[in-house]
Amino acid sequence: MKIGIDQIGFYTPNKYVDMVDLAHARKQDPNKFLIGIGQETMTIADQTQDAVSMGINSTLRYLDQIDKDKVGLLIFGTESSVDQSKSASLFVKTALNLSPQVRTFEVKEACFGLTAGLMMARDYVYSHPDKTAIVIGSDIARYGVNSGGEVTQGAGSISILVKKDPQIMELNEGHSAYSEDINDFWRPNNSKLAKVDGKYSTQVYLDFFTKTFNQYKKEQKLATKDFDALIYHLPFTKMGLKANRLAVEGEEEETTQRLQDNFEASKKWSAKVGNIYTGSLYLSLLSLLENGNLTPGARIGLFSYGSGAMAEFFSGTLVEGYQSKLNKEADQALIDQRKKLSVAEYEEIFNNSLLDPEDSITLKSDEVKGKWYFAGTKNDIRQYSVN
Ligand code: HMG
Repeated sequence: MKIGIDQIGFYTPNKYVDMVDLAHARKQDPNKFLIGIGQETMTIADQTQDAVSMGINSTLRYLDQIDKDKVGLLIFGTESSVDQSKSASLFVKTALNLSPQVRTFEVKEACFGLTAGLMMARDYVYSHPDKTAIVIGSDIARYGVNSGGEVTQGAGSISILVKKDPQIMELNEGHSAYSEDINDFWRPNNSKLAKVDGKYSTQVYLDFFTKTFNQYKKEQKLATKDFDALIYHLPFTKMGLKANRLAVEGEEEETTQRLQDNFEASKKWSAKVGNIYTGSLYLSLLSLLENGNLTPGARIGLFSYGSGAMAEFFSGTLVEGYQSKLNKEADQALIDQRKKLSVAEYEEIFNNSLLDPEDSITLKSDEVKGKWYFAGTKNDIRQYSVN
């Protein structure tokens, strides 16, 4: 049975900081951020955007094109959870008016959450071929103003519809997974900011990529040249570039060029949005499909990495007519329409977003009409509204 990605919805909040401005403010050479890290701008979420509201907004990008009655599973992957008990997916389910018969819950393993959900959704559709599954990855990457990881922040959400006979990409048989209990990046319950051992995290990422990629090729009897594109979880785009350099080591020029060109296309959106944790690999996929030139039948290898750490390599095949399911203009517009913040404005908005609003205060959003937002709490219960 062919199962895979039928729809991809993307959302990122409406403000950003330019890396050149940030470099000047931090007394760094702008090329360190632009080339050394590989980021141009990063999205900033204000107090009214959280994992839930962003997840609603990304799913609304395609909801009117699907049969809502067929959705039997809704999984929410996040490491920016809004509650220690209740799943973010229940707020989403209500906002989207999905059936009460939907099985719904939240999953967590750092940036691996959406991939975990995608694999569960594939198994679900396999055993319920007439049903579909929505899988959301939604996160705000926060290291803190003036921190070592500051240039690798970002905010956004990807929502995916998984279905039989998908219209974008079939998931191929097989996968290779690898995990180890390590401390490269984590976020204790008492902190809204991530803790990170930055250099170590980049080494583990590359080590897990090599392990899972080689294992996958061995098990599936494939060579690097058999992939039309390789895409990566992109905490910052230079990270993926380093992994891609490892992938093409010793390959013929044609393979090297093809994989490099497709990597360039896959990093375009992330270079502007920043790290969106769980959704990041799938933002790479969207960027590749919208900015690259792949033909149906192309085989794409996907590397998913979540700190802590868990990695998986798997692949998909593009289906005939996949281009008609994308909306590059709308995705580009979402990124272009963000308002530029000065560094001082960013710092204020960022620090304010770390505070829980006083109970019973109603927050207002400056997002455009139709976008959902967090409107504050009433009796400590989170409220969501639409503009
Ligand atoms: P740093 O100390 O700011 O940067 O840390 P650096 O000194 O290592 O420099 C970065 C690069 O810029 C270097 O290139 C420099 O040479 C270059 P590289 O050696 O790496 O190729 N550079 C310049 N290039 C051009 N012109 C110049 C210039 N100056 C320097 N003038 C670090 C960087 C990534 C460690 C930091 O930002 C950080 O801690 N970020 C957060 C952690 C992170 O993103 N880790 C990634 C792997 S873990 C992961 O992906 C999981 C994650 O998404 C979380 C999850 O799973 O939930 C994070």
